[in-house]
Amino acid sequence: MKFSIHTYGCQMNVRDSDAVAAMLIHAGYQQAVTEDDADLIIVNSCSVRGKAEDKALGKLGLLCATKRERPDRKIGVMGCMAQRLGEKIFTKVPLLDFSVGTRRCAAIPKLVARVLNGEKNIFEISDVEAQPDVPDSHNESGHCAFVTILLGCNRRCAYCIVPDVRGPELSRPAREILAEITELASQGIREVTLLGQSVMNYGLRNQVWEKDDPASTGGYHEPFTRLLEAVAAIPGICRIRFTSGHPSGCTDELVRAMSTLPQICHHLHLPFQAGSNRILKLMRRGYTREMYLDAINRLRTAMPDFSLTTDVIVGFPGESESDFEETRSLMEVANFDNAFIFKYSPRPGTPAAEMDDDVTEAEKMRRNQVLLADQDIRGQRNNEALIDTVQEVLVDGPSLRNTERWSGRTPGNKIAVFTPTATLRPGTLARIRIVRAAPQTLYGEILD
Ligand code: 5AD
Ligand code: SF4
Repeated sequence: MKFSIHTYGCQMNVRDSDAVAAMLIHAGYQQAVTEDDADLIIVNSCSVRGKAEDKALGKLGLLCATKRERPDRKIGVMGCMAQRLGEKIFTKVPLLDFSVGTRRCAAIPKLVARVLNGEKNIFEISDVEAQPDVPDSHNESGHCAFVTILLGCNRRCAYCIVPDVRGPELSRPAREILAEITELASQGIREVTLLGQSVMNYGLRNQVWEKDDPASTGGYHEPFTRLLEAVAAIPGICRIRFTSGHPSGCTDELVRAMSTLPQICHHLHLPFQAGSNRILKLMRRGYTREMYLDAINRLRTAMPDFSLTTDVIVGFPGESESDFEETRSLMEVANFDNAFIFKYSPRPGTPAAEMDDDVTEAEKMRRNQVLLADQDIRGQRNNEALIDTVQEVLVDGPSLRNTERWSGRTPGNKIAVFTPTATLRPGTLARIRIVRAAPQTLYGEILD
């Protein structure tokens, strides 16, 4: 029995898929090399925009159609869309064998066994408030791993479906996380990315540290910075990242932890979403343009080599040309290294869905193109400024495009391409001198 998992959406989904793969392997199933080869295919779905759901539904439709030639093939769905649609998914995709919600992925091996026993259309979608089972098994190849530290989100930004599909914020106990990372380190993982929708809120809503846990040696009091310090102390872990951030979490303690613990990469993904205070307020983001800029100024002052990436939404209800120009100018002032730009998509049940989606599709497209073009110029300029600097890269191995060249990532999370030396191994840290730059890629020569 061979399985394959097709993942849409964010790193949270990538992590969940990885855990499910590990659990299925543990239960005796094999990972298929190609999807064609698989007897069981699971689609891990995303709900963040209408398009993401259309893609997952389209994929499920195609997969279920292959059952005509392969009647024994089993198809399942998990993730945010599965959670949102509940039982309704079987009316959209009648041949689907099972559907599993966001807080129930640990149940998948059991569901697969039932499906193999002949059951159809089974689903396990609990209330998003339910206590989740958080699997700690991993199957990552390579030297980087994702570790979920915080589930769900309490922020309720007006446009966002995440609180509905991933439930309220819940932080995992620090001990559990540290044990998981210690195990990963012993298996050769060098870089961990701590995941949470609003990751800096770690430990703010529920207790994560026990009374008899060792105290912070660096004098950290906030639960998240304490966790960063404890992860940095795990032998073998040489890089720590975390995502996604929110300006309210950029406390002085966080700035101190990032700038003094050498394992923490000087990079942050800090979505700003909009540059106009009027739109930020309608979005219920909980900060102003000025507060956002203050947060990044404090980070940059402490870390001159700091790299900043972001998410932006264009065409939120009521976004005027001048609101959009404020988004444009904020991107220049903040000088992002990379930006993911999204066209607003109304999500059922969110507060913004009640508002008039009044920016036309053509105008959303135009604003998207303008920001992309600006960001291309900015990315090129920022990367050119790195020419002749020496960057440390965590070596990934042969690059996808040209296998004679290898790639790795800088602490700023930029992809760097270089010609490997004969003794170079994936998973090591190497120093390269940057010789050429493109908007999203650096090219370098290896120094050691
Ligand atoms: N429409 C468009 N983009 C959205 N995002 C979240 N919700 C929506 C929506 N309804 C974007 C935000 C978020 C990223 C993951 O997706 O920019 O940071
Ligand atoms: Fe998509 Fe958001 Fe779910 Fe991630 S959390 S998979 S981005 S809907």
